[in-house]
Amino acid sequence: RILILDFGSQVTQLIARRVREAHVYCEVHSCEVTNDFIRDFNPKGIILSGSHMSAYEESTDVAPAAVFELGVPVLGICYGMQTMAEQLGGKVESGAQREFGYAEVREHGHTKLLEKISDFTNEDGQSFLKVWMSHGDKVTKMPEGFKLMCSTPSCPIAGMADEKRGFYAVQFHPEVTHTVKGKEILNTFVLDICKAKPDWIMGSFAEESVQKIKEQVGKDEVILGLSGGVDSSVAAALIHKAIGDQLTCVFVDNGLLRLHERKQVEETFRKNMGMKLVVVDASERFMHELKGVTDPEAKRKIIGRLFVEVFQEEAAKLPNAKWLAQGTIYPDVIESAAANTKKAKTIKSHHNVGGLPETLHLKLLEPLRELFKDEVRELGCELGLPAEMVYRHPFPGPGLGVRILGEVKKEYANLLRQADAIFIEELRNADWYDKVSQAFVVFLPVKSVGVMGDGRTYDWVVSLRAVQTSDFMTAKWAHLPYELLGKVSNRIINEVKGINRVCYDVSGKPPATIEWE
Ligand code: XMP
Repeated sequence: RILILDFGSQVTQLIARRVREAHVYCEVHSCEVTNDFIRDFNPKGIILSGSHMSAYEESTDVAPAAVFELGVPVLGICYGMQTMAEQLGGKVESGAQREFGYAEVREHGHTKLLEKISDFTNEDGQSFLKVWMSHGDKVTKMPEGFKLMCSTPSCPIAGMADEKRGFYAVQFHPEVTHTVKGKEILNTFVLDICKAKPDWIMGSFAEESVQKIKEQVGKDEVILGLSGGVDSSVAAALIHKAIGDQLTCVFVDNGLLRLHERKQVEETFRKNMGMKLVVVDASERFMHELKGVTDPEAKRKIIGRLFVEVFQEEAAKLPNAKWLAQGTIYPDVIESAAANTKKAKTIKSHHNVGGLPETLHLKLLEPLRELFKDEVRELGCELGLPAEMVYRHPFPGPGLGVRILGEVKKEYANLLRQADAIFIEELRNADWYDKVSQAFVVFLPVKSVGVMGDGRTYDWVVSLRAVQTSDFMTAKWAHLPYELLGKVSNRIINEVKGINRVCYDVSGKPPATIEWE
């Protein structure tokens, strides 16, 4: 396995993604881990990440000494290259100009890392890589034993290697997709240089986890809050495979679900998979407490608190439950760790059922803690969950509660649900569902005038929203075909009585957010 030490770059997770895509198991840990930790981890190789620190901020973070003493290959990326240079006797200086974005890096001589990889060759026979750079500081003197691997005019030492010791470093970011051959570079490092085994596959993960869960849980009972989303669904399927009826899933209908969502969950989990599923209809309770509340954050808090309350009431009915299972996935783990050490600059607050464990006095069972989203999906397919569920767009915890602007009313939720189902159905029909990352309808509590047949209408307005994004931190509005938009609009206005106008949201994130609240 490969150890990735995080110096706080916003793209550290991507390094782990790329390594896992090569079917090599890896973990991300803070650069502040101890030497003993690194020795105990026993990595086949180590990758040092970049950092968000700019040229003008003094970073005191260095890699633990064990990194360079263990005798395993090390790859330094961006800041990771700089700290490697400095720690091994080279020199780093603040660059007068920041290099940011696309760059063409010239390769010098052969190194095991880059010898088979290049994007183009110029007239003089020199090989180049098309990469993505983001740095202010740069290495100005290589440590002893290193040779030049690549350069750009403004960054004469853009890559260096001491092949005897297996130390490699690049100033650019191979983990981002803008670096065209980045994946190959990381593959070469982990597979050819570190000789890590590509044995990380979901089939064997499922088998091993089932065994582990059995041992961990023994004869105890387990309770899980099922939302119908990918993570909790896959966690439920995996745990059910391990312990069968010792698992009880609780599904809370908060009145803010999508059309037929509750029925689908009942069908998949109770009917098809034979799981113990408790469905609580708490919709009236949610509607009642949301009455008159218009502030988005206040709505979120109420919905979150009520969920905890309802779940706790159900848990109390299962006195033998000793474990609380959750669909926490690896990005959640890395994010909370980063939030604790405050290394990463922007931290998305994540919205898992917070607060549950302490108040319930249950032990936590989180079998997906090591997995990235697409691995969770792969595992879901492996476990026989329907592809439609596994590849579903994300749906926020507060559900339609944040898609009905202002006060939430049952009438609005009913209209929104129907409109949303039409939009999603047409996206699927037109083969656009999988081409967008998230799509939904937003209900605007605004009435507009229309004409239908011979009569005047005065009805509600909705907006369609469809975005494309890889990380949900930034997003582009999807350029859906006009014909598709027209068809959706026609169907919504004709089929959903009470809506007479449909808009399309053409705002990117930033400055807008994906949800309207
Ligand atoms: P925004 O609107 O912040 O959304 O651009 C980014 C992603 O997060 C989802 N989202 C939420 N998920 N609880 C959740 O579980 C929330 O309160 C929440 N707010 C936004 C949103 O659907 C998108 O995928």
